[in-house]
Amino acid sequence: MNFYIETVGCQMNALDSELAAAQLITAGWTRMDSRKDSDLVIFNTCSVREHAEEKIYSALGRLKHWKAQKPGSVIAVMGCMAQKDKTIVFQRAPYVDVVIGPGQIDRLVELVAKARETGEQQIAVSVDRFERRDQPRLVKDSFRQFDPIRLPETRPRVFQAMLRIMFGCDKFCSYCVVPSARGPEQCRPPKDIVAEARALADQGCVELVLLGQTVNSYRYVEGEKKTRLPQLLEMIDQIPGIRRVRFVSSYPTDMTDELLQAVRDLPTSTPYLHVPAQHGDNGVLARMRRRYTVEEYKDLVDRIYATVPGAAITSDFIVGFCGETEEEFQKTVDLVKYARFKNSFIFKYSERPGNEAAKNFKDDVPESVKKRRNNELLDVQTAISAEANKAFLGQTVEILVEGPSKRESKSVAQEESLYAECDADSTPNLETNVAKEASANESSDAKDYVQLTGRTPCDRIVVFNGSTRLTGTFQKVKIVDAAPFTLFGELAE
Ligand code: SAH
Ligand code: SF4
Ligand code: F3S
Repeated sequence: MNFYIETVGCQMNALDSELAAAQLITAGWTRMDSRKDSDLVIFNTCSVREHAEEKIYSALGRLKHWKAQKPGSVIAVMGCMAQKDKTIVFQRAPYVDVVIGPGQIDRLVELVAKARETGEQQIAVSVDRFERRDQPRLVKDSFRQFDPIRLPETRPRVFQAMLRIMFGCDKFCSYCVVPSARGPEQCRPPKDIVAEARALADQGCVELVLLGQTVNSYRYVEGEKKTRLPQLLEMIDQIPGIRRVRFVSSYPTDMTDELLQAVRDLPTSTPYLHVPAQHGDNGVLARMRRRYTVEEYKDLVDRIYATVPGAAITSDFIVGFCGETEEEFQKTVDLVKYARFKNSFIFKYSERPGNEAAKNFKDDVPESVKKRRNNELLDVQTAISAEANKAFLGQTVEILVEGPSKRESKSVAQEESLYAECDADSTPNLETNVAKEASANESSDAKDYVQLTGRTPCDRIVVFNGSTRLTGTFQKVKIVDAAPFTLFGELAE
């Protein structure tokens, strides 16, 4: 039996797709690159913006015909939209067989088997945290998955892996669906995380990305012993084979000096910090229910640059949030200029029914204004990214070679285009920009070599020519040219 998974959304979803694939492969299924010869098609969905959901429903619409021609085939919808829409998925797409929330993916194999045996629709979603406030334990347990199976072949690159350290989110930003789609914040025990990191290292993993919606809020208490992210980073630093560790996404108020010092001092920690600011105006931040002021955020930026040499900070921004005036928007522009982010992911506000912003405020910024502000902010950020990249000219940096560039490798292009989709309605996708910049910089005398990409410790993409055998190794590269999203280098021995 063959299966195909299509993934949109954030890295949480990318990881869940890997874990789902690992379960299916362990149960005897074979993964395919397209739905053509598949018996099971899985959509791993995202609800963060309306556009992401509409795209899934139209993709499901296109599958109706496919399913009609393939008796016995199964369509499964998993991820945040499955959790949010529940049986609405069956109403909007009656030919869907399985709906499974992100807290239930360990039941995927079982539900698919049941759907095949009985021909009946199957659903497994977590308990709604707003409906069952009286049963916090029940809610938490229903959002948790234990001991995921990790298989190297489910990763885009064997030598890089994501590792979840916590589930859910308790910050309740007014615009966001994640606290309901992913449930309450729950941190995994350090020993489970370390065991999984070791297993990944044994599989040849040299780079780990620790995942959590507010990853730097990580906190695990066991008797007298309290483990926070700095201690966890120390434990992972001790694991033989692990060379680079980064963590996403950080919440501004939980970025302690202790954590910044750990990032600076631990040999495996890399100076890359994704700390979404969301906005540059205090009134808007308050309406968004972010728990800091712009002054506090700027202070954080200062602390990061003062503590961590060569730090690269990245951010997310929402433009056109309810009631955002031109003046308020300009404060976001000011913040981008102040913080000199490596890059920013910019999103147009999208109202999500039922959450606090939808209840209390009007989505009153016209689409054309949202679009203009998005482009304006992007232009400011791109100029800053270009300048920061220029500063690398002449420097020699150590990169982890990821493999042939998008221009060289169709399979890489395919795999990345799936992850890219979630951003299609906002910032032009980074990989697309790199591919464009890389083709423009193409060298014609590279017959024996292919164009490769790698990443610096601060997560900048470097394009250079070299043998594909370098994939997965660390190399020193001298930077000879720079575009806003790409550095171009030459192997330095
Ligand atoms: N937990 C992460 C972000 C998760 S969602 C964090 O807090 O940093 C990823 C990004 O999507 C957010 O940072 C935000 O910029 C954007 N986003 C979330 N809800 C949105 C909405 N309703 N409309 C537009 N963008 C949204
Ligand atoms: Fe959403 Fe805010 Fe939680 Fe991030 S911190 S997932 S934006 S509620
Ligand atoms: Fe991620 Fe989208 Fe869910 S951004 S957590 S997949 S709503």
